Amino acid sequence: MKIACLPGDGIGPEIMAEALRVLAALELPVEVVHGDVGGAAYHRHGHPLPPETLALAQGADALLFGAVGDPTCDNLERHLRPEQAILGLRSALGLFANLRPAKMFAGLEDLSALRPEVAGAIDLLIIRELNGDVYFGEKAIRRLDDGRRQGFDLMSYAEDEVRRIAHVGFRAAQGRSGKLCSVDKANVLETSQLWRDVVIEVAAEYPDVALTHMYVDNAAMQLVRDPGQFDVIVTGNLFGDILSDQASMCVGSIGLLASAALGERQMAHGTLGLFEPIHGSAPDIAGTGRANPMAMILSLAMLLRHALGQEDAATRIEAAVAVTLADGIKGGDLGGTAGTVAIGDAVLARL
Ligand code: NAD
Ligand code: IPM
Ligand code: MN
Repeated sequence: MKIACLPGDGIGPEIMAEALRVLAALELPVEVVHGDVGGAAYHRHGHPLPPETLALAQGADALLFGAVGDPTCDNLERHLRPEQAILGLRSALGLFANLRPAKMFAGLEDLSALRPEVAGAIDLLIIRELNGDVYFGEKAIRRLDDGRRQGFDLMSYAEDEVRRIAHVGFRAAQGRSGKLCSVDKANVLETSQLWRDVVIEVAAEYPDVALTHMYVDNAAMQLVRDPGQFDVIVTGNLFGDILSDQASMCVGSIGLLASAALGERQMAHGTLGLFEPIHGSAPDIAGTGRANPMAMILSLAMLLRHALGQEDAATRIEAAVAVTLADGIKGGDLGGTAGTVAIGDAVLARL
C-alpha cells in the first residue's frame, strides 16, 4: 500500500511529522511517498497543485494531507492560491463524500465552548458534499454596465450529485443510530429545494432510517443549544464547511477534528481517499511548535480504517489520543501547555 503524504503550509509540516512518527511506530507494510502542495508547491514549482503532485496522488492508495494556506499568496490570482490544491485534489479525484466526525473525549467536557452537560452528549457525524455547490460554480468579480463591480459565485447542485451523497448519509445512519438530518436552506434557495426533494426520493430506499430536515440557520443554533440531538447530518459543501468548524468548538478545539474525503472507488471497494484535519494552516501559530497534532494523527487513524482496512491500528491510535487527553496532556488550544512534539511523544508512549 502506498500513502502519499502532502504536508502543505504553515503548521501542516509540523503536525504531519507527528502523524508520520505514529505511522512508523505501527510498523505496517506501507510505503510513504512525499509531495508538495499549496503555497509550498507554488513557491517551488509555480503552482499549488503541480502535475507531479497530482500524478503522485493518483498513483497512491491513500492521501494524508496536512493543510494549505499562506498569507503571502492571498493576493495571487485565484487559480494560483494554495487553497486550489485541496479543492483541485477533491475535484480531480472525485472525492465527493467528506466525513467529519465530532465526538466528545472523556475529560474534555469542561473545555467545550458549551456547558459540560450539553457538550457531553456530542457524538455526531457531519457528511459534507465536497465536489459541488457554490465552491465549484462559475465565479467572477465583474463590471456591471454602469461600472460598478459585482462579485458572483453560482450555487448549483445536479440531482445525481445530491443523490450520491444522500446515499452516503442514509448508509451511515444505518450503521449508527438510524437518524439522518438533512440540512439545507430550502425556504430561500432553489438549490436547496432540489436537494430536499432528492433526499426525500432517496429516503424511500431506506425505510429503516428516520429522516428529518432542518434549515441551516436553525441547525447552527441547535448545534450549540442541544448537539446531542444529532447523529448523522448530511449537507452541502458550504454549509458543511461552516457547521463542522462550529462542531469542533463544541468538543473543545478545532485541533481535534479529523476528516475523510472519499470517492466512488472508495464507496465501492477501492481504496483511494484523502484524509486531513478540518482545520487550516494556522499561520498565527505556524513555526512556534504549539500546534495540536491530534486532528492530524486522528486523520491517519481514519486513513488506516477507511483506505487500508486496518481497523485495529485505527482503534489503537484513537485510544492513545483519548488516553493522552484523559491524562491531562493538552495543547494551548485546549488551555494546556504541551507543544506539538510533546503531544506526539505522549500519544506514541500510549500507543
Ligand atoms: P485555521 O483553521 O488555519 O485557524 C483558525 C484558528 O484555529 C487559528 O487561531 C489557529 O491558530 C487555530 N488552530 C487551527 N488548527 C489548530 C491546531 N491544530 N492547533 C492549535 N490551534 C489551531 O483557519 P484560518 O485562520 O481561517 O485559515 C488559515 C489558512 O488556512 C487560510 O489560508 C485558509 O484558507 C487555510 N485553510 C486550509 C484548510 C485546509 O487545508 N483544508 C482548512 C481551513 C483553512
Ligand atoms: C476546509 C477548508 C477548505 C474548504 C478551504 C481551505 C478551501 O476550509 O477543508 O474545511 O472550504 O473546504
Ligand atoms: Mn473549513
